[in-house]
Amino acid sequence: MSELNLILLGPPGSGKGTQGERLQEDFRLPYYATGDILRAAVAEGTELGRTAKEYMDRGDLVPDEVIIGVIAERVEGAEAADGFILDGFPRTVGQADALGEEMEGLGRSITAAVLIDVSDEEVVRRLGGRRTCAKNGHIFHVDFDPPKNEDVCDICGARLIVRDDDKPEVIRHRLETYHEKTKPLVDFYEERGVLKRVDGSLEPEEVGNRIRALLATLRMEEEL
Ligand code: AP5
Repeated sequence: MSELNLILLGPPGSGKGTQGERLQEDFRLPYYATGDILRAAVAEGTELGRTAKEYMDRGDLVPDEVIIGVIAERVEGAEAADGFILDGFPRTVGQADALGEEMEGLGRSITAAVLIDVSDEEVVRRLGGRRTCAKNGHIFHVDFDPPKNEDVCDICGARLIVRDDDKPEVIRHRLETYHEKTKPLVDFYEERGVLKRVDGSLEPEEVGNRIRALLATLRMEEEL
């Protein structure tokens, strides 16, 4: 594949961040997770962070006009010339249209939009037990991927926290928002012939193997 422009799609808690970390290491591509970018902006108290915080705390999406520029700037950068992995963007049809126009303007296209498919019940179980590294965002789960020492990140030793939007009432609202605003992107990318579905209910290792296998198939098809 000449370049790999990959979108990770799926409900909150489907494992986009978990798989994004692994794919980033495998493919050595820049990984842009809008949730992480916005949380960093909130922590730094930038204008972007101040705008985003109230939406994020409620489990609403930040407005398209706020987030589109954030990603456009990265996709255009030299770092992303050989491809990129997007996690959490696009999340509305407006964002997907904007990304499509951006790619067209650069003479490039989306290679695949990988839908990590999990049920709403599984989302609630996963987000209820998630623990996130306060420093670098590494992800754990109290039952499915427990850290060796409680509340300490295995990778960098930082404190593990419960994200503000992982409270039960906010989780429910994030799911509603997903169904209303983001799920239409499944049809959007299917119609454009780039949607790839992966069963996200499997073990993280197996989900990762399946994503790598489908990317390998795409590469073979391109070489034929
Ligand atoms: P964001 O941070 O993107 O949240 P999200 O999409 O809701 O996704 P999550 O990070 O909650 O879950 P994930 O799919 O990455 O799952 P994870 O790997 O952590 O966005 C946060 C907020 O920012 C939004 O609500 C919005 O306000 C704003 N925002 C962001 N992007 C925006 C945009 N484009 N437009 C507008 N607003 C935007 O896994 C979850 C848990 O499950 C972990 O504990 C993990 O260990 C565990 N786990 C993972 N995989 C498995 C598995 N296979 N089996 C068992 N457990 C697993």
